[in-house]
Amino acid sequence: MACEKDVTFQHKIIVIPGDGIGVEVMSEAEKMFQSLNLPIQRDYVDWGIQHYLKTGKVVPIDYIDQVKQYDAILLGSLGDPRTLPDYVTLEPLIQMRQQLDQFLCLRPAKHFPGIPTPLKKCEIDILVVRENSEGEYSNIGGIFKSGTPDEFAIESAVHTRRGLERVIRYAFEASRKRRNHVTLATKSNAMKYGMVLWDSVFEAIAMEYPDVTAEKYYMDALSAEIVKNPSKFDVIVGSNLFCDIISDLTVTVAGSMGIAPSANINPERTFPSLFEPVHGSALDIAGKGICDPIGTMRASSMMLEFLGYSEESVLIEEAIQSSILQKITTIDIGGTKTTNEVGNFIADYIRSKKSSTSSSMTRSSKQRKQ
Ligand code: NAD
Ligand code: IPM
Ligand code: MN
Repeated sequence: MACEKDVTFQHKIIVIPGDGIGVEVMSEAEKMFQSLNLPIQRDYVDWGIQHYLKTGKVVPIDYIDQVKQYDAILLGSLGDPRTLPDYVTLEPLIQMRQQLDQFLCLRPAKHFPGIPTPLKKCEIDILVVRENSEGEYSNIGGIFKSGTPDEFAIESAVHTRRGLERVIRYAFEASRKRRNHVTLATKSNAMKYGMVLWDSVFEAIAMEYPDVTAEKYYMDALSAEIVKNPSKFDVIVGSNLFCDIISDLTVTVAGSMGIAPSANINPERTFPSLFEPVHGSALDIAGKGICDPIGTMRASSMMLEFLGYSEESVLIEEAIQSSILQKITTIDIGGTKTTNEVGNFIADYIRSKKSSTSSSMTRSSKQRKQ
């Protein structure tokens, strides 16, 4: 358990560092939490490959009941196919999203000045709103006549009107606080049931928002247009799989996978929400001390905002901005610093801001007494 001394806890979160760089990025996020000194208890678990090696299972059997005891879940990343197939290791993550009804997955991609991008001109501020609880990840199907020449696989996607309405409506509401523009990622020219339902629910909801421009793009053309002309997109909404792919694209054109956060939200708060970076366990760079911890820190910032710690959430973003401006960054965004150095900078920045705020508060309260 990690927590601050002499603090009465108001929240408790479960932290799953996971595999590969998950462990490295989470250790920097822990430093950041310590510098924030919030009344949040953090319970660390070894779920993932370590847990599998010890027990033969990636997570405990009652893991859904365990996570329900918490206010939020913070995840680094899971997966190491050298030890276990990814579809086994990643199953609990997909199950948590589904069983905890985290139907909304928010993946903002914004270009920060000072970060190199693969594009010539990069004005990008896109919010990807991903349907997160059904669609192509519904886990309905099977492999038949396994191992024979007649082997075949069936994988069914489930798209429900209720599921689409709630996520599409959220996208329109979100755009009203941004630039009043929503794009649907579809493929109804080829997928004539599920994607046609997406189109028709999208068109119906768009009628309720006459102040918002609603456009639909075929997924293939949309990918090309995000690269050619990213500034024209504001909110992009779409199915589980489509937005998984689109979010890797938007965050990469905005700079790097390493700095991108993801919030898996249960808006009704009936169960905890899950916060994580967009990236995975990046085994190609794991253990080298060069991975970017910013994605996990921004996911933590989204979590703090969700739990009601708005000032601290903003302070994290400010610390990150400052690290970028001062080039205290890892190689993925053009810097030369280690994961550790970035983490230390951010923790020190937060600590110094907090102590200057509390000393100015002490000063002003003394002045008031005089
Ligand atoms: P990945 O996101 O791990 O890596 C893709 C590329 O981005 C790699 O070149 C990697 O080096 C780079 N990258 C990722 N995070 C970075 C960071 N913080 N700093 C700098 N560079 C970073 O995707 P992948 O290689 O397809 O998957 C690796 C493993 O992660 C697989 O087992 C996969 O299933 C798993 N995965 C897990 C999650 C999750 O836990 N939510 C998400 C995606 C992938
Ligand atoms: C993500 C990941 C997961 C997904 C995988 C690892 C199951 O790619 O969170 O983006 O596809 O949702
Ligand atoms: Mn993904």
